Amino acid sequence: MESIALFLFISCALFSLSSGVVHLHQFVIRATPVKRLCNTHNSITVNGMFPGPTLEVRNGDSLQVKVVNKARYNITLHWHGVRQMRSGWADGPEFVTQCPIRPGGSYTYSFTIQGQEGTLWWHAHSSWLRATVYGALIVRPRLGESYPFPKPNRETPILLGEWWDANPVDVMMEATRTGGAPNISDAYTINGQPGDLYKCSSKDTTIVPIDSGETNLLRVINAALNQPLFFAVANHKLTVVGADASYTKPFTTSVLMLGPGQTTDVLIKADQPPARYYMAARAYQSAQNVPFDNTTTTAILEYKSTKKGNALKPIIPSLPAYNDTSTVTAFTQSFRSPRKVNVPTNVDESLFITVGLGLNSCPPNFHKSRCQGPNGTRFTASMNNVSFVLPKNFSLLQAHQQGIPGVFTTDFPGNPPVKFDYTGNVSQSLNQPITGTKLYKLKFGSRVQVVVQDTSIVAPENHPIHLHGYDFYIIAEGFGNFDPKKDTSKFNLVDPPLRNTVSVPAKGWAVIRFVADNPGVWIMHCHLDVHINWGLAMAFVVENGVGELQSLPPPPPDFPVC
Ligand code: C2O
Repeated sequence: MESIALFLFISCALFSLSSGVVHLHQFVIRATPVKRLCNTHNSITVNGMFPGPTLEVRNGDSLQVKVVNKARYNITLHWHGVRQMRSGWADGPEFVTQCPIRPGGSYTYSFTIQGQEGTLWWHAHSSWLRATVYGALIVRPRLGESYPFPKPNRETPILLGEWWDANPVDVMMEATRTGGAPNISDAYTINGQPGDLYKCSSKDTTIVPIDSGETNLLRVINAALNQPLFFAVANHKLTVVGADASYTKPFTTSVLMLGPGQTTDVLIKADQPPARYYMAARAYQSAQNVPFDNTTTTAILEYKSTKKGNALKPIIPSLPAYNDTSTVTAFTQSFRSPRKVNVPTNVDESLFITVGLGLNSCPPNFHKSRCQGPNGTRFTASMNNVSFVLPKNFSLLQAHQQGIPGVFTTDFPGNPPVKFDYTGNVSQSLNQPITGTKLYKLKFGSRVQVVVQDTSIVAPENHPIHLHGYDFYIIAEGFGNFDPKKDTSKFNLVDPPLRNTVSVPAKGWAVIRFVADNPGVWIMHCHLDVHINWGLAMAFVVENGVGELQSLPPPPPDFPVC
């Protein structure tokens, strides 16, 4: 009661700075009973809400979110896609930019949103807590400015989630113990609700209202832990106008695919006979012979003037087959920036990074119950054959800023240590990566190109690769092994899309470019949480430039230490 009143009070306490407004929020992390699929779980939530509160700001505004941890787990929050210019201390990934907020502790994340408009989101960046700890972060144009498309009559966040009929932290810990793959989820959700196709779920199905002739802006977010998802609305076309808080050249499609971490803003026009239409999401599963959750979540797009007789059975959209990579490719290749953009034409750093899974042989002192991966192994994953290990006593950013030795090394390889036919039949001798906390150092202002190359080790798969602290241009994508001789000619240096997460094609590659203009330590990782646990990550350390405006200030006074 008290905390709700406080929450309401501070949510409204906005005051002006020279440019934007400062939004104060209090996020209390606590266990809350949440009933789904006939069972109640004590889920970790923010302010008792699942999904958590939607944050709504304008470009140029600042946020100060006081996180109070009243749960029994360590936690951090990450503001996914926020550039965090010179505010790396507020980025949030556990042991990367900060030590966790301990039970009973608190920390205020303080940052400004500059030059980003559209849909972002926030989520826990600790263990598997983001299964229930996530919410939308909506960035509208500055006061007096408008969208680069006709103003929609309504706006609706559509958060796609993934639900376990279990404690997700236990699911993760069990997998860490056994070395096998974690249990698949039991449902997907739209705005926290599985929908009509699941047991005990119909009466709570999410309803999205619309009126004939109206246009609704759907802000679709894939907040699922481990699954790229298709999304469609029966009988309605979707016009994509933005992704990852950057506008795109509008294009029309009947289906979206979002990797975890990605957002897509679409306009939907109520141009169909008044009735109820399902919106639905289900898996895009690129890895073969791997178990996955093949269920379908639904919400209902409901025309206000729906006649009683039409109200019974919503029409279900047709979704692509689970493994329909050609639909995914056609969709991804439709993305363009709205106009010519400033892509670095020359690069100072050219990296080639393989991403993929691996298998560790069972350590001699391990009981076989702890080696339940394929053929008695333990799953692992790596970038350029390094399986990333987080420090335990310091955050990387702290170690970097304070010059604490022994926490990380800066010898992350800029190229694969061994060259091989990445997407062919890979010899099993390449299954086992090394481990390390290896970072790659970038000079302030350097222009960086990264070729991200999927490998066939264990199983090729579409990996949503997310870089913290930056947006990057995706200048090309393709299948097979990246070949600089012939693939360079495919680079789009005119109007490539700007994103923070790239879905690297299964058995393929993607090329991204960015300018290292934000000092700090920035993790780049696969946004399938199961792969982060296995080490599919690396981090950049971007040095300070010249003077205060190109340097990271010291951490805030309440910064959590280990
Ligand atoms: Cu949305 Cu490092 O994550």
